[in-house]
Amino acid sequence: MTSRSPASPQAEQSDCPCRVSGTSDTSETRSPEESRPEEPPSAMERPPAAIVAVVDDNETARKHLCAVLKKEGHLPVPLSKGSLLLRMLEKAPQLPDLILLDLVMPELSGYETMTRIMADPRFSDIPVIFVTAAGDVDSQLRALDLGAVDYVTKLCEPKLLLRRIATHLQQARDRKTLKLLLREREAYVEALRDNLSELKHDMLMAIGDLVEFRDSVTGGHSSRTVRLLDAFWDELLRTGVYADTLSTWDKDVFLQSSLLHDVGKIPIPDSILLKPGILTPEEREVMKRHTEYGAKIVDRIQGDSTVKKTFLHHARRMAATHHEKWDGTGYMQGLAGEDIPLEGRIMAYADVYDALISDRPYKRPFPKDEALRIMREGAGRHFDPHMMKAFLTIVQRDDVMEDGVAPDPGPAPGNCLMSAMSAAG
Ligand SMILES: [Fe+2]
Repeated sequence: MTSRSPASPQAEQSDCPCRVSGTSDTSETRSPEESRPEEPPSAMERPPAAIVAVVDDNETARKHLCAVLKKEGHLPVPLSKGSLLLRMLEKAPQLPDLILLDLVMPELSGYETMTRIMADPRFSDIPVIFVTAAGDVDSQLRALDLGAVDYVTKLCEPKLLLRRIATHLQQARDRKTLKLLLREREAYVEALRDNLSELKHDMLMAIGDLVEFRDSVTGGHSSRTVRLLDAFWDELLRTGVYADTLSTWDKDVFLQSSLLHDVGKIPIPDSILLKPGILTPEEREVMKRHTEYGAKIVDRIQGDSTVKKTFLHHARRMAATHHEKWDGTGYMQGLAGEDIPLEGRIMAYADVYDALISDRPYKRPFPKDEALRIMREGAGRHFDPHMMKAFLTIVQRDDVMEDGVAPDPGPAPGNCLMSAMSAAG
């Protein structure tokens, strides 16, 4: 309810302006049957009472409309000016369900009042019906263009006016219900999306674990590279290196994608993947193919879907190119410079550095200074030189790599020191 007391309309049916003007909006002659007072609708038929603001500077017209509304069970709020309506909308604890708005009024006209109502999203959903003496087409069109739901003349039959009010109230209620349903559906879809996102992350972690389980020498590699990449990403952005590209990517998606960078090791035979010792040249060639296998596995996950899956896009480029080198001597495609996708160039840093500082059955971790020297010397040879400064900055932070030494040494025979050994020269 509003803070103001609604008027106590005194006007009766005979006070209707249309009767005063001596005209009617229908030429039909009312039969005695039609002239009898209407039977009040049953409780089941009667629509819920509505708060209706009646804005009209003409007191007679205002009282008449209020009386008509009150008789129907509605709660009219009489207002003599557009400015009073706007003040009521601002102050009243409950907004009106519908507004009957006169067109020609002093100070603010109906059009101006309507324009202000529609400009405020708090009020623009309230249905507004223009009730005015002006019945020309241009006036009606202008009112409808401004957002009015209807336009009736002051000569309108009360029954017809009430029917139109009932229709617009019902439509407003329907719109409200639809909005509510839409909001609920959006919340549901959002929750589903969160669940799917969690599921996707868990599945990717599981795949990453599976890769590490198969390639037991690199235990903890995925989680460490994710931690490195996280800090590396922030530093690149902070220092403006490839920031134009990175700022268009989602970091979380990128980090999740990195879990698949070695997914191509899954099809590598155990005899090679788990070999306790240095690989033969032939075995190295097979091992190199994990980049090709990785791209194919991601393609298979992608399937025939035409939906753009950003994380799979990153994952494919990372899996296929994380062993490429800036000078073109890497594998499998021998790409060079910026022909290597940015995902592969970034992953190369984290992949090699983790291999350097990790313990292996036939190698102790490189001391941090030695690992940093090897990385530095790889700028422009193995690594994209533009990113070296940012990488050196983050690996010297204790919170990123726990004194620069990777925890959780691999328990089993090693095979894939290819990255580390090739970086070491
Ligand atoms: Fe790899």
